[in-house]
Amino acid sequence: MATPASDIGLIGLAVMGQNLVLNMADHGYTVSVYNRTTATTDDFIARCKEEEPSAERVIGFAELKDFVQSIKRPRKIVFLVQSKAVLPTDRDAVDAVIAQLEPLLDKGDIIIDGGNSNWNATIRREKELAPKGFKFFGSGVSGGELGARFGPSLMPGGDKAAWKELKPIWEAIAAKVDPKTGKPFEDYKKGVPITKGVPCTTHIGSDGAGHYVKMVHNGIEYIDMQLICEAYQLMKTLLGMSAGEMSKVFAEWNSGELDSFLIEITTDILQQKDPADKKGKKWFVDGVLDTAGQKGTGKWTSANALDLGIPANAMAEAVFARCLSAIKDERVVASKKLKGPKDTKKITGKKKLIEAIRDALYCSKICAYAQGFQLMAEAQNEYNWKLDFGKIAGIFRGGCIIRARFLQKITDAYTKDPKLQNLMLDPYFKKAINKGQTNWRKVVSTAAEQGVPCPAFMSALSYYDGYRSAVLPANLLQSQRDYFGAHTYERVDKPRGKFFHVDWPDPKRPQLNM
Ligand code: 6PG
Repeated sequence: MATPASDIGLIGLAVMGQNLVLNMADHGYTVSVYNRTTATTDDFIARCKEEEPSAERVIGFAELKDFVQSIKRPRKIVFLVQSKAVLPTDRDAVDAVIAQLEPLLDKGDIIIDGGNSNWNATIRREKELAPKGFKFFGSGVSGGELGARFGPSLMPGGDKAAWKELKPIWEAIAAKVDPKTGKPFEDYKKGVPITKGVPCTTHIGSDGAGHYVKMVHNGIEYIDMQLICEAYQLMKTLLGMSAGEMSKVFAEWNSGELDSFLIEITTDILQQKDPADKKGKKWFVDGVLDTAGQKGTGKWTSANALDLGIPANAMAEAVFARCLSAIKDERVVASKKLKGPKDTKKITGKKKLIEAIRDALYCSKICAYAQGFQLMAEAQNEYNWKLDFGKIAGIFRGGCIIRARFLQKITDAYTKDPKLQNLMLDPYFKKAINKGQTNWRKVVSTAAEQGVPCPAFMSALSYYDGYRSAVLPANLLQSQRDYFGAHTYERVDKPRGKFFHVDWPDPKRPQLNM
């Protein structure tokens, strides 16, 4: 048997897998690769030889056994396989890959699931593998195809001691940010591997912590995208702006505090002409059907927020907005039957409204992150993790889909105060939201008056107003619960934890003179 020569192995050669391999090879690592369909491996190796300078460091295998034996011990094997398991008891393709690997591995070997697997399944898999002596990691990988190729944000969860083995590779291939400004280095645009700066990866916690944080990242991604879409719809509907015109607005926003990957790609998308239009007049986006797909991570985030009792309403709203978009046929019928506002005023003050929409977007975005971080704060208690929010915000600064300039401010906020109760209470964000709230309200009320849906702006504003309300109408709600179900209530004039009940209908209640 030949001496094992590879630093790491990767199973699953779809685009993300291929790009991660090339990223590792660019950074000097020798990578063994395996795919269930051998033809895919052969094609990839052939392409590498033709196009990639680091091709000599990529070695393909047709047999899983040979693949495993080619890797230096303790072996590090990453796989990218689509996972469907949601409940801890669900078994899927990921479990099948692990089962195939197990008899070929030695104690101390490290298996890394780099897909978007559900954290519940990751916790279960780690529990099953630990007694057998294998180290199982669930590592979130964010950044899409380009991120995988030139620097993703990586969120690994697993055994702390085994992380030391994985860390050098993960840090090498991750995106990097400037330590002074927090801005991602984007040398990859020139095709140069990024070697300087702070890597966008850190050990998130044990077992499912990495996949959990990746899931919340996606929950934030959902709302971030929805907020941008609402800004677009308001400008389109209320101001009659074309895609090209809006592109300029987004480009301007991207030069300020809203600077982010998602605003940047929106700018690009909106200036794209429709390739199907021979005359080159139509905008690309106008030819795209308005029904959104989803793979489930946003839903998982929202369902978990409900389970943990965390008011992440704006996040859930972003999922529901996709669901509503998906029932296109129903909406088309309803659009002919259900009425909107009677007197829609002509909107004047275009510049001012655009400015207000910008503020509404920024304030809502702060709420979205506040909800995401509150959710993670609760999850660490529920699942016995110790999460470092400063570090988590830090690795979101580069590589991932939600990367944005203001993540430096979130990093600062949690580094200064690791126990910060809510992002909105950090002095920087408090000031920003206080400054933007008048315009935010203006946008939401204008949208309601004009009949333009903006569920994420609206629900984020309700979250903000609810969070800053010392008194909410739950006094009446508790009374209702006590009335029909004897669920008891606490009193404003008695210590917390003392419960009271009235025999409804109270015979002594004063009668109303009606
Ligand atoms: C990322 C993305 C990535 C993927 C989403 C898309 O961080 O790189 O989040 O994981 O594009 O899963 O999710 P939907 O199909 O649900 O929009």
